[in-house]
Amino acid sequence: MGIYVKDGFFVLETENTQYVIAAEKGGAVHNLHWGKKCRIEDFDVPDGTYFLYNLRMRDCFREEYSFFGGTAYENCALKARFSDGCRELELEFSGYRLDGNCLKLFLKDRHYPLEAELSYELFDGFDIIRRSVTLTNVGNDEIVFEKLMSCELNLPGNKPYTIKNTMGNWGSECLPVETGLTGGSLVFESRRGISGHSNSPSFIAYRNADEKSGDVYFANLIWSGNFSVEASRDIRGITRVILGMNGFDFEYALKGGESFTAPAAIIGRTVGFGEMTRQLNRYGIEHHLPKYFNEAPLPVLYNSWEATAFDVSTAAQTEIAKKAAQTGCELFVMDDGWFGQRKDDHAGLGDWYVNPEKFPNGLDELIENVNALGMDFGLWFEPEMVNPDSDLFRAHPDWAYHYSTRTAHEIRNQLVLNMTMPEVQEYIFECLDVMLTKHNTKYVKWDMNRSLSETGCENLEHPREVWYRHVKAVYDIVDRLREKHPDVQFESCSSGGGRCDWGALAHFDMAWTSDNTDAIDRIKIQKNYALNRPLKTMRAWVTDRNWYNRNVPLEFKFNIAMRGALSLGGNLNKYTDGEIETCKKYVELYKKIRNTVQFGDLYRLLDLEKDEISADLYLNGDKTEGVLFIAAVNTSCIKEAETMYLDGLDDDRIYVFDYDGKRYEKSGAYLKYRGIEVIARAQYYNAVVEIKAKR
Ligand code: DGJ
Repeated sequence: MGIYVKDGFFVLETENTQYVIAAEKGGAVHNLHWGKKCRIEDFDVPDGTYFLYNLRMRDCFREEYSFFGGTAYENCALKARFSDGCRELELEFSGYRLDGNCLKLFLKDRHYPLEAELSYELFDGFDIIRRSVTLTNVGNDEIVFEKLMSCELNLPGNKPYTIKNTMGNWGSECLPVETGLTGGSLVFESRRGISGHSNSPSFIAYRNADEKSGDVYFANLIWSGNFSVEASRDIRGITRVILGMNGFDFEYALKGGESFTAPAAIIGRTVGFGEMTRQLNRYGIEHHLPKYFNEAPLPVLYNSWEATAFDVSTAAQTEIAKKAAQTGCELFVMDDGWFGQRKDDHAGLGDWYVNPEKFPNGLDELIENVNALGMDFGLWFEPEMVNPDSDLFRAHPDWAYHYSTRTAHEIRNQLVLNMTMPEVQEYIFECLDVMLTKHNTKYVKWDMNRSLSETGCENLEHPREVWYRHVKAVYDIVDRLREKHPDVQFESCSSGGGRCDWGALAHFDMAWTSDNTDAIDRIKIQKNYALNRPLKTMRAWVTDRNWYNRNVPLEFKFNIAMRGALSLGGNLNKYTDGEIETCKKYVELYKKIRNTVQFGDLYRLLDLEKDEISADLYLNGDKTEGVLFIAAVNTSCIKEAETMYLDGLDDDRIYVFDYDGKRYEKSGAYLKYRGIEVIARAQYYNAVVEIKAKR
């Protein structure tokens, strides 16, 4: 593993793959290979004069970072405007720096004072490369970027790939969409100011792949705002994917001497989807999640939203907190409704003071009750928003995005604060800081319930920078709060999973996956969330949600929610003693297995859609402990028994577990290659099997 430079080739060797770049001074930066390791002597320097019919050479190249200019007509990563009106770029390779596991390639414009730095960082034990791009204006006159993407990837060979992204909505986040890209272009994007519920700032490209085999290429953009993932395949069969901040309505200006680093991206190649998931999960914990709690098991929390909605008070919350404590919850989060004049969603956002009618003795009374029950206390905020019916809006109507000649449309009766204004940023920071300082609060759920619109912001010299600056302001405020309150955990929420991207996960410890807490829908949502995000960040509640009248049993709900960061959210006041006991039993079990779930490796053994049974095996790092979750909704007769191969186990160890009334004591090899039969007889069949290696 490592990076070396030889004969004009830059060779990046990850654990199992090789990424080869060729660059010569004054020329382009080419990608030559991304796949299994080869002998470097066998590579040829690309012929810079290559010319095919009327296609000028740059369109035929597999460039590492393409730009708009000259006779290049394919999609490109960078587009700039110089102060004299020239809108052409001519970047050429000018040098490099190799610093351990980090390679920087430098490019310079032939005429204008613009420099670019392409950075590649490798990580021991991973097939992942962290890429980023920094642009510097080394002159005096302003340079404006109209498109500034984070990375460009040329996928190997010229056979078509299937590109996987998501296409969801509120309540149906992370639903996969897979398109065979034989020609033309395919764009996944957000123009909403948040990464959103629909497409994802990521992609997976594959050929003939399944859990264990086939070429799988992937990338995740570390960004929570407008993005685009632009995939195309041309007549030569080159599949390019360019991803970064969306060029739609985009602009970013650099004055003389200024630099800008675009959001980074993590890219990788694995054999099979399973290895991709495991690498991203481990990478997330070791190198990406905020350092405060990345190595700490996340608590089992209770959230009051589905039980009490806006109807919160000391007495009602204390009553439910008592039940939550009985079940073994470690943290009690009071959701929306505790502040300003908040009775429903028409008023109060922006007024982050405790509602005196609901909490006549202040908030500390409730917090003390919660703490006396042995739980930490957490609070909901929606900092980027304001209701027109609020003290904040009455005092500062100009703090919300708007154009004076246009209607500022409300969604959920609220407007978005102009987060690019320093005074707004300061106000939000102070409000949260005061609450966290004055009250013993250990958890912040940061919500965001509407997309940006009518983003008029007279304060900005380049108003189209709003899309970047809004998101950056959110990150900065969260980082500042975290520095001052290092013992507080932060959850990213946006009407469910509208902001659960790798950008958010660099600042927040976890994300709210979806407001859809129906256990069966959750199987699909969670499977695709966990496909390319760290598992421990996936908050999963057991609730009373019964949208489809399918009366899913409590045990089944736990089976699904325990596959992520387990939480409770039902109206526990209405639970029978037996149901509270069931909750207690599962919370106890979860605490026993949570290290394996939150820090282990996931092996997807059976898939509900394909096999009628969902079976996920989580294994700890040294493969000595595992937990297997099996669930089936309603299997058909032929599916009563399904052979399940326990991938991931150590061939030579003997594993012991009880399943379906029988004790198994078998070698890892037997369980993996011969497999065992899953007997999913009942409707809502579910089993949680603890597996231990014999010492
Ligand atoms: C949307 C979130 O997804 C819910 O969990 C809840 O916090 C509500 N907002 C509160 O308004």
